[in-house]
Amino acid sequence: MAKPLIGTATARVDGTAKVTGRADYAADRTEPGLAHGHLVLSTAGRGTLRSMDVTAAEAAEGVLAVYSPFNPLKLHRIKTTPDVCFVGQFWLPLQDQEIRHYGQIIGLVVAETFEQARHAASLIRAEYDLLPVRADFAGRIAHAVPPPVAINHEDPQVDLLAEEFGTVDEALAAGPVQVRATYTQPPEAPLALEPHACLASWSEGVLTLRVGSQSPVGGALAAAETLGIGLDQVRVLSPYVGGAFGGKLYIWPHPLLTAAAARELGRPVRTVLTQEQVFTTVGHRSAVSQTLALGAERDGTLVAVKHDAVSSLSLSGVIYETAAHTTSRYTYKSPSLHVGQRIVPLDSPPTTWVRAPGEAPGAFALESAMDELATELALDPVELRMRNYATVFPGRGVRWSGKHLDECYRVGAERFGWQPRTAPRPQPAEDSDQVWLTGTGMAGATYPGNLLPTTLANVRLRADGTATVATATSDPGTGMRTVLAMVCADDLGIPVERVEALVGDSALPLNYGAFASMGTSSSAGAVRSATTALKQRLLDLAAGDARSPFHGLAAEALAYRDGRVVGGGHSLTFAELLAATGLSELDSPGASAPGAERLRFAVHSFGAHFCELRVNRWTGEVRLDRWTSVIDGGTIINPRTARAQIVGGILFGIGQALLEGIRVEPDTGRFANGNLADYLVPVHADMPDFDIHFLDHPDTDFTPLGARGIGELGVVGTAAAIANAVHDATGRRVRDLPITVDKLL
Ligand code: MOS
Repeated sequence: MAKPLIGTATARVDGTAKVTGRADYAADRTEPGLAHGHLVLSTAGRGTLRSMDVTAAEAAEGVLAVYSPFNPLKLHRIKTTPDVCFVGQFWLPLQDQEIRHYGQIIGLVVAETFEQARHAASLIRAEYDLLPVRADFAGRIAHAVPPPVAINHEDPQVDLLAEEFGTVDEALAAGPVQVRATYTQPPEAPLALEPHACLASWSEGVLTLRVGSQSPVGGALAAAETLGIGLDQVRVLSPYVGGAFGGKLYIWPHPLLTAAAARELGRPVRTVLTQEQVFTTVGHRSAVSQTLALGAERDGTLVAVKHDAVSSLSLSGVIYETAAHTTSRYTYKSPSLHVGQRIVPLDSPPTTWVRAPGEAPGAFALESAMDELATELALDPVELRMRNYATVFPGRGVRWSGKHLDECYRVGAERFGWQPRTAPRPQPAEDSDQVWLTGTGMAGATYPGNLLPTTLANVRLRADGTATVATATSDPGTGMRTVLAMVCADDLGIPVERVEALVGDSALPLNYGAFASMGTSSSAGAVRSATTALKQRLLDLAAGDARSPFHGLAAEALAYRDGRVVGGGHSLTFAELLAATGLSELDSPGASAPGAERLRFAVHSFGAHFCELRVNRWTGEVRLDRWTSVIDGGTIINPRTARAQIVGGILFGIGQALLEGIRVEPDTGRFANGNLADYLVPVHADMPDFDIHFLDHPDTDFTPLGARGIGELGVVGTAAAIANAVHDATGRRVRDLPITVDKLL
């Protein structure tokens, strides 16, 4: 038996293509006759576009067309909901003169070159009739309203935006120990290294749209609906995606406008957004304010959890942070619980899914509040969590398919060298010359394990001994291609080098893509289903084909092992069998779909983070030194890319904790720091030494492969672990992210 690949650290199958520049991202392609689009954005936050002077732009060198609300490109109204249509906002630009947010698309200039288009766009003058802008989140929290729609209403795990059991307020009042605090964070941007870009070309009425997308199928659905064409008239290609983080899940207007322009001009058109444009034309994460009240007995047993979240919802968008129900609802056992969610509608660019939506802000509040409770009780924070450990999903009465969070705490504490603490760390004397204050902090992490709707894959054997695996998912840097090749190679008993994984094409077998930590379990499940069926096809062929050396034996007497069909004294590789039977290839479809496990079990991934940091006593600078995370994600198919996923997630959490935040001008709605010079994200110098450890408990009650999602888990709890360590170091509890130096002086 060959050594299994699953569980073995494996280099990315597309790594060489990426580092040598052969990987073609959306903006890398050129085509004969290519024209270039450049967006024009509004410099007003709300009102009506009175006029646009495009004379100079139209006369500029190389300009082919200037589209605007006064010379629009027709896009069809979106009639379906976002989960069907995959457009990130419910209105489409250029269809009317209304200004809904600052930085909204009001024009598309198409020219012979990128520079010509950009220059011409700079010559356009727009005039507005202004209305007051409602962009001040903090100032409008008091006027928060219930959410307009329940998203994900068919999901038994996340259907309830508000839930209550027990008598929470009474229990809180009766609890001998209480903590109550409000935690806030600004909007965040899903920034990716690859700028948002697209290339649209039409041939005989069929659109080929190259766009970096987490969901090529979603992109095709969006393009078909808005461009008024059939699904068979559009193909979306996303062979390589340079980071996505939620911002490339839905299709935004620029590819749709670019496709419409290409259709009208009869030429391929490529549009590449500047990073400044990315901030307002693709979505961002809601601003969030959360109030948490915990009531406990003196021994730390929770008697009440009350978690109310308020999130901003763009009046253009459809998505907002569901922060409260996503953690408080299922993290700890408590006889009484209240989770509530309200929204503040704003004239802002669309809010959307961003990196662990719900859990990332939710866990910051909950895991900070648990730390505050531990301090109040003079109880070690790990011990407090163990005393409230839930083995049954609160409110549903079902067990988890696999939950080893207790082991995460224990192993994490051991690996990190966690010192249980029951008293605040002594602070240096006023006249001490100590510069750095050291602190440690911890937090738990959890993220739901879901499966995509029906996911298809195809596996094909070829007579040259190679195989292809194909499914319409995307690899936005997660290592999806590699994981699918590994599963296929293992199942077929051949080296991974002999498997080609085809993804990033809406014409491949149906797959809604890579998001919400569902990609690997869904796609790998479909691949395993295909290889299982394919091996049976191979045995049937071996037994049934007159040209086969196995002919005459019962298929049941044969077996497929280590890449060979064996039985009756014969042993042939699949390549030899295909050659013997005169076939050039043999393939089989496979499928994965959510099943009864979702009713019988709660499914979540878990983890625990431990960190050590230093705070400069005089400047407030925070430096992370050490980080240990122990992850319970079921079967880890590729520990190498899995580690990268967790580290990447933690880096986002570090950004959330210490650096990131869109600053909104309240009277205009302008993103004052909407560029990569002023919006800070973590870089390598911000990384601590990482110790990432995976528990190995296959979750076969979830899927046969036993893998759960880990894509977003690393983000969850990270900001709380850091805030808790800052508190340990300085005695200061910062409840408003990011923890910038001014908050520590
Ligand atoms: Mo994830 S925020 O669903 O891409």
